[in-house]
Amino acid sequence: MSYRSIRDLDLRGKRVLLRVDFNVPLEADGRTITSDARIRAALPTVRASLDAGAMLVLASHLGRPQGKPTPKMSLMPIAERLGELLGKNVAMASDCIGGEVVQQAQSLTPGDVLLLENLRFHAGEEKNDPEFARALAGLCGIYVNDAFGAAHRSHASTAGIVEHVSEAAAGLLMEREIKYLSMALREPARPYISIIGGAKVSGKIDVIRNLLEISDRVLIGGAMTYTFLKSRGLPVGDSLVEDEKLDLAAGLLAAAGDRLLLPLDHVVAPDLAADAPTRTVDGAGQPIPDRWRALDIGPKTIAAYRDEIAKGRMIVWNGPMGAFEIEPFARGTIEVAKAVAASKATSIIGGGDSEKAIQIAGVADSITHISSGGGASLEFLAGKTLPGVEALETSARSNRRSFSHGTVA
Ligand code: 3PG
Repeated sequence: MSYRSIRDLDLRGKRVLLRVDFNVPLEADGRTITSDARIRAALPTVRASLDAGAMLVLASHLGRPQGKPTPKMSLMPIAERLGELLGKNVAMASDCIGGEVVQQAQSLTPGDVLLLENLRFHAGEEKNDPEFARALAGLCGIYVNDAFGAAHRSHASTAGIVEHVSEAAAGLLMEREIKYLSMALREPARPYISIIGGAKVSGKIDVIRNLLEISDRVLIGGAMTYTFLKSRGLPVGDSLVEDEKLDLAAGLLAAAGDRLLLPLDHVVAPDLAADAPTRTVDGAGQPIPDRWRALDIGPKTIAAYRDEIAKGRMIVWNGPMGAFEIEPFARGTIEVAKAVAASKATSIIGGGDSEKAIQIAGVADSITHISSGGGASLEFLAGKTLPGVEALETSARSNRRSFSHGTVA
């Protein structure tokens, strides 16, 4: 995997279009940011560019406005937050292309920052329209992509734009993401433990398949467990099951053999509610009762998974073990978070829910790499090519200058 790095470029006095992923969660008012983690994740590249004397034009999507200006998905609150974090003014553009924006970009001086309005206010972004890509490219001399979270999208600002710029490179966050996720796919330290949770087998089938190929153990949790258990003919009560995926689940179990571990016991309740009565059901002897549903892994499973995790030297985790945001069902996910943090392994966490669990458990500092990209990290771990990364590689091939730093073996 070879691409140029921002560290290879001379940015002094250059206008740099930096694609970032500022797709942050907002309250319904469209003004209050509930987590600024993605803004913080871009800070190293933003600061390095400014320190190197660049004029920065930042571009991002926010939400899914379907190609139309949508006030509640304006990037304005993000300009304000970024300004606070940088301790300097971040100018907000009224659009992301067009005459006025070109003028604003041209009037920047080194050290200035201009944030473009939501790229997805134009249908050309998601359609990867060449004219839209060319218009974006017209705002800069150099293009840097730091938006790992959007690298699985083949959009104008993540892919098409590289054909219209003379220099394209990866930002520091993009490099870090590729470095750690590549480490998980190629020659990982062993034992290699993958932990996959979440509601549905269907959303994670490719990643389960790929990780089964390369991991020593795959620990399963979350509601997807019950599609696997039902495929074995076990009673799962009212637990969430994807009936149309039972054959697929049975096939995966057959292929995985003893590398795939399913929960041994379950915390069950009649409702997904904080005040619901709960019981622990031991999968070895007790069926999950009718009208009760499994909402977390039980203590036996936590102990077994903790033992596996402690042996790991490479751990990849994506998806919660249960409905962890509701107190009676949080323990499994939080205990897994703590076990991963306590291990000696290189630990890589992907997906918003696992990240949230790591934050709730207060162990973020003990994790090697928390990916900023949910969908992008899943696709990477599934072994798929990410269009945003591929575009940087294509650009590096056609522009063979020194790109020693940006090479991942
Ligand atoms: C994400 O939040 O996963 C990325 O920002 C991509 O957003 P999207 O799923 O709307 O393309």
